[in-house]
Amino acid sequence: MTEAGPYARTLAGKVVVVLGGSSGIGLQTALQARAQGATVILTGRDAERLEKAAELVTPARTEAFDVTDHSALKAFFDSLDGPIDHVLVTAGGPYYAPLASIDLDDADAAFRGHIGVMIDVARLAAPRIRAGGGLIVMSGTAPRRPTVGLIVTAATATGLSAAAATLALELAPVRVNVIAAGFVDTPLSATLVGDGLDARRAELRERLPIGRVVEADDVAALAIHLMTNTALTGSTFDIDGGQQLVAGL
Ligand SMILES: NC(=O)c1ccc[n+]([C@@H]2O[C@H](COP(=O)([O-])OP(=O)(O)OC[C@H]3O[C@@H](n4cnc5c(N)ncnc54)[C@H](OP(=O)(O)O)[C@@H]3O)[C@@H](O)[C@H]2O)c1
Repeated sequence: MTEAGPYARTLAGKVVVVLGGSSGIGLQTALQARAQGATVILTGRDAERLEKAAELVTPARTEAFDVTDHSALKAFFDSLDGPIDHVLVTAGGPYYAPLASIDLDDADAAFRGHIGVMIDVARLAAPRIRAGGGLIVMSGTAPRRPTVGLIVTAATATGLSAAAATLALELAPVRVNVIAAGFVDTPLSATLVGDGLDARRAELRERLPIGRVVEADDVAALAIHLMTNTALTGSTFDIDGGQQLVAGL
């Protein structure tokens, strides 16, 4: 039986905040949330990029700021008119470097940009989140298969999952979940892979068990499911088309 009231499996009438919603996974999640009747609040750093996204999403509000800036993040949550239901955090990218090349300042920034942001968002957002709602943080599948160069990225991903489980207890009934993605075809991936993008796509189509590349839309569908299925909290959900099952992919 589908639950009613705050636990209804729908986004109609809900308020969804996407921190990092002007591109990729965040943008697709915002579009799907709007299509399901949610009120969407969209943020990102680059105001122009955000306004272009807003033309597609028609959010109730946009706000350009860096989520790693505590004062700006606090001002944003303080300025919200009423309660919210869901927050998705997609900000922050991977940091690749083998041990000898790790720049400690960059590594600190990567930890701050993922785990620090999760803690900050959890503290600022949780008091505003209605029963049945929650926080979702983007992460990756790097810890599943140890690989040289992924020390920082694997450690932040593991830390996010551990933090989600702990926060799910501390913030209950607010729910907290993590999405761990493999390769997703987004502007971020295009920037990271550069000239090799088409070859990478072809390799993934050839070798992934699903026979196609995972798109931002696929990850967005998982985010929407995590928002509307109120049985889910404290967990990490992998979405990689089976990438971690295939050696060397
Ligand atoms: N794509 C993949 O293959 C993949 C795999 C595993 C995990 N992930 C993770 O999933 C998340 C989303 O990735 P994506 O591929 O969708 O990236 P994307 O296309 O670059 O989108 C990221 C969004 O977040 C915003 N953003 C980035 N840093 C921000 C900050 N400090 N403050 C506020 N907004 C910020 C960006 O806008 P501005 O740049 O204008 O701020 C943009 O709207 C990232 O955390 C990424 O590491 C991605």
